[in-house]
Amino acid sequence: MTVFDPRFVWGAATSSYQIEGATAEDGRGPSIWDTFAATPGAVHDGEDGSVAADHYHRFAEDVALMAELGLRAYRFSIAWPRIQPTGTGPANQRGLDFYRRLTDTLLDHGIQPWPTLYHWDLPQPLEDRGGWPVRDTAERFADYAVIVHEALGDRITRWTTLNEPWCSAFLGYATGRHAPGRREPAAAVRAAHHLLLGHGLAAQALADARIGITLNLTDVSPTSDDPADLDAARRIDGLQNRLFLDPVLRGRYPDDVLDDLAGTLDFDHVRDGDLKTVAAPLDFLGVNYYAPMLVGASATPNDTAYVGSPRVRFAGGGRPRTSMGWEIDAAGLLALLTRLHREYPAVPLYLTENGAAYDDPVHDPLRTAYLRDHLRACAEAVARGVPLHGYFVWSLLDNFEWSHGYRPRFGIVHVDYATQRRTPKDSARWYAEVIRRGGLSD
Ligand code: NOJ
Repeated sequence: MTVFDPRFVWGAATSSYQIEGATAEDGRGPSIWDTFAATPGAVHDGEDGSVAADHYHRFAEDVALMAELGLRAYRFSIAWPRIQPTGTGPANQRGLDFYRRLTDTLLDHGIQPWPTLYHWDLPQPLEDRGGWPVRDTAERFADYAVIVHEALGDRITRWTTLNEPWCSAFLGYATGRHAPGRREPAAAVRAAHHLLLGHGLAAQALADARIGITLNLTDVSPTSDDPADLDAARRIDGLQNRLFLDPVLRGRYPDDVLDDLAGTLDFDHVRDGDLKTVAAPLDFLGVNYYAPMLVGASATPNDTAYVGSPRVRFAGGGRPRTSMGWEIDAAGLLALLTRLHREYPAVPLYLTENGAAYDDPVHDPLRTAYLRDHLRACAEAVARGVPLHGYFVWSLLDNFEWSHGYRPRFGIVHVDYATQRRTPKDSARWYAEVIRRGGLSD
């Protein structure tokens, strides 16, 4: 039996646009994902989040299900366009009321609310004014954070500012695979900075709260010891991991990444004092981990999300893959967690997302195996002294997987989209048992 600390936080995660639906209700304004999903060719089969898992209307049923599974915490996100329909100005009370009801229902069931303030649904009017590549968006984000904290801060202790800013910046503004669908490499790097700045401004404004940020980090290895492959892996590690970790936890951009980006843009959008803001005290780091990366040099340029580094290629390690095509490697999680502890020692860690897409509707042994192997890696990390304090499965429910639409199913609970019926998968029953026992049976 592998036992975790009794205070270890066992949770599951979702996000607003992926599950809520009700995109035109109670005064919600349009977000960049409504606009993007309505663009022909942007999302698989032209799907969108207008109904999704209808969580907006079914949240009470969903919280009851969480309680049945024994979850101790629920990581969800707050939709900015429900709170400020145009991205600025006074709060929309009906939007706040929804999250107040959700939070109260969670607390009534003894489930700790873990909100994220930004999981990619930027109010469209802010994108119309330039989006994350412009500084104003960072300032507006801090205003929004203050509004939500004033309304809900009496019930919520832990706040996550951003979810996976790498995706917002590089998929949103470099590859265009995510909203707003722009393909402007220099804008992506500016977006990354203003996302980080927004995080820092919000963290400063909510100084009395416990603040975290969630990054999508991974274990990057070179395909060989050849210097060209080592350099390719260094570049990708730089843009994927250190471009975000270093400003937040060390108050500076990594020099090698600045050098790599020098041909793409100068950093004149970074003002004196910004990095001090970005490095505002952090109470925890959220880590989202799914798959490792094996990177080598490419003789010919490739069209990647990695601005300024086209001469790279992503190799396979020959391991089994999930239905997303992502390689399964729990050892990569262990390597990542121990590296974070070694290089950024002071910050408490939570695994804020980990999980797998599989098609099996209810009997899902492969998902259970994935979760078990990754939880074992977590236990091993803790045994090696890594300050990992919690784990959130992605995801509680099957949901809208962004440009892939509804086809990938990440939930431990199956959603029949025709009837909105929820059915816990075998993995949910297994996870409930892990939580009940506080660990894994060997
Ligand atoms: C990361 C994102 O935060 C989440 O929105 C997404 O659905 C999962 N990973 C799976 O891709």
